[in-house]
Amino acid sequence: MLPIFPPVELINHAPLQQFTTFGVVAVCDHLYRVEDMEELKLAARYLERPLILGGGSNILPVGDVHRNVLRIELKGKEIVEDGPDPLVWAAAGENWHETVLWALGQDLGGIENLSLIPGTVGAAPLQNIGAYGVELESVFHSLEAIELTTGEIRTFTRDECRFGYRDSIFKQEARDRYIICGVFLRLHRDHQVNTSYGAIREVLEQKGITHPGIHEVSDAVISIRQSKLPDPAVIGNAGSFFKNPMIPVAKFEHLQALHPQLPGYPGNDGQVKVPAGWLIEKAGWKGKSIGPAGCYEKQALVLVNRGGATGLDIWNLAEEIMSAVRQMFDINLQPEVNIWK
Ligand code: EPU
Repeated sequence: MLPIFPPVELINHAPLQQFTTFGVVAVCDHLYRVEDMEELKLAARYLERPLILGGGSNILPVGDVHRNVLRIELKGKEIVEDGPDPLVWAAAGENWHETVLWALGQDLGGIENLSLIPGTVGAAPLQNIGAYGVELESVFHSLEAIELTTGEIRTFTRDECRFGYRDSIFKQEARDRYIICGVFLRLHRDHQVNTSYGAIREVLEQKGITHPGIHEVSDAVISIRQSKLPDPAVIGNAGSFFKNPMIPVAKFEHLQALHPQLPGYPGNDGQVKVPAGWLIEKAGWKGKSIGPAGCYEKQALVLVNRGGATGLDIWNLAEEIMSAVRQMFDINLQPEVNIWK
């Protein structure tokens, strides 16, 4: 018997292609949309092990979903403590990019490099979103989350979130135990822009901008993303499908002897981070497709739905790519996207 929440909107047989950016056809038996904390508390209390959905920009449903899905639509954002480094709060259901634009409008710096990342504010700490030299953790202050078993609200500080590369406690031991309700960010009125990423410097140079501010950096990031990454409104995708793997230095040196062009960047714990896009391209998959599932021609790390692909089509392509990279480089790629099986 289904729990009944008169105040919570329920969609039976929800078409997940409308709620995820991959646009693969999949039906979810029960999708609940929560818009305020009271609804969220009710849902947390009554629904057993719900799957949590934000903007659906990092999810691949492989087949129909028979668990309850909870779509977090909590809204609101404000400066809660002003000063040289204001503390900003944003509700989990706010669109991330709109939050970046709002911060820019308030002349607040710190998240301009994270412009145009699809998804919601609540999903941002989950995987410590990052792009163009900046990760969320650099501005993250704390978050509030509701514990599913007790319905209690708990605060997590930055240390408690245990951020890593595309990682946090919410992908590890706290997985499926909390729903993030709102996030606090420490932003800055005295702007220190980060243009360390080569592509940003190139765009700024082309435009003749020598002293960029936060708006110029944001515009540069937006133009880089638009030139390399497919717009989910036009072609279904979830951004980078795989994480960039970290490998030991000795293994990197061995591979570089075989492939002198292999790029590598300093990673965690003295390891070397290798761009998965390069490995996939070298393994011959860039621009290739299996039926309607494709490896994007401008960025091999992005898998795309060329029209009518199922989650299984995309997953089968992902497995072929993982196997080709394993054979050629002895590296196991890990999906960055959450796979709903
Ligand atoms: N590369 C290739 N071929 C490709 C793609 C990339 O050779 O088809 C190589 C190039 O050497 C390039 C390097 O990979 O210089 C890095 O490429 P890029 O700058 O596009 O970044 P990425 O490592 O492929 C990561 C993030 C992106 C983020 C960019 C920019 C991950 C999994 N992905 O991609 O994040 O926008 O850096 O900072 O870390 C996302 O998470 O969805 C996402 C798009």
